[in-house]
Amino acid sequence: MEQTKLAVSEAPEKIEIEKILEKYKLKKGALIPALQEIQSYYGYLPEKAMEDVARIFNLPLTQVYGVATFYAQFHLKPRGRNIVRLCMGTACHVRGSALIMEKIEKELGLRPGQTTSDMRFTFEPVACLGACGQAPVMMVNDDTHGRLTPVEALSVLETYK
Ligand code: FES
Repeated sequence: MEQTKLAVSEAPEKIEIEKILEKYKLKKGALIPALQEIQSYYGYLPEKAMEDVARIFNLPLTQVYGVATFYAQFHLKPRGRNIVRLCMGTACHVRGSALIMEKIEKELGLRPGQTTSDMRFTFEPVACLGACGQAPVMMVNDDTHGRLTPVEALSVLETYK
């Protein structure tokens, strides 16, 4: 059986993608793990990588996009160095998370789902973060910050470069 050959380029990103796809291309059910590994390399799924995946897995590009857009874990756009998750669950809402959101939107110019132009922050409001006792809660990357006022939330963000 003839195997699909990957185009070789000197770009390190291309070489990394080739390595990832070489590892997964003949395995059943490998589409999602391949996408996960590509995303962990780039921080998101670039269009060109999706095309390579479709070609190597011999799938229509629309199917690869279908999978990537179905699962919340995948991101199709570059994300900031710091992911800001503000809880909008009931306990946090009651204790003022909407005011924190307003402050972040106003001061950082960020709407939910957006990334700052300097790639410093991506803002992702979420449902319950599982720390309701500390409401209102905001996570920055893996750090949890609780019992925040809007001003404190901004001060927290200032510590992340
Ligand atoms: S509602 Fe915000 S942590 Fe649970």
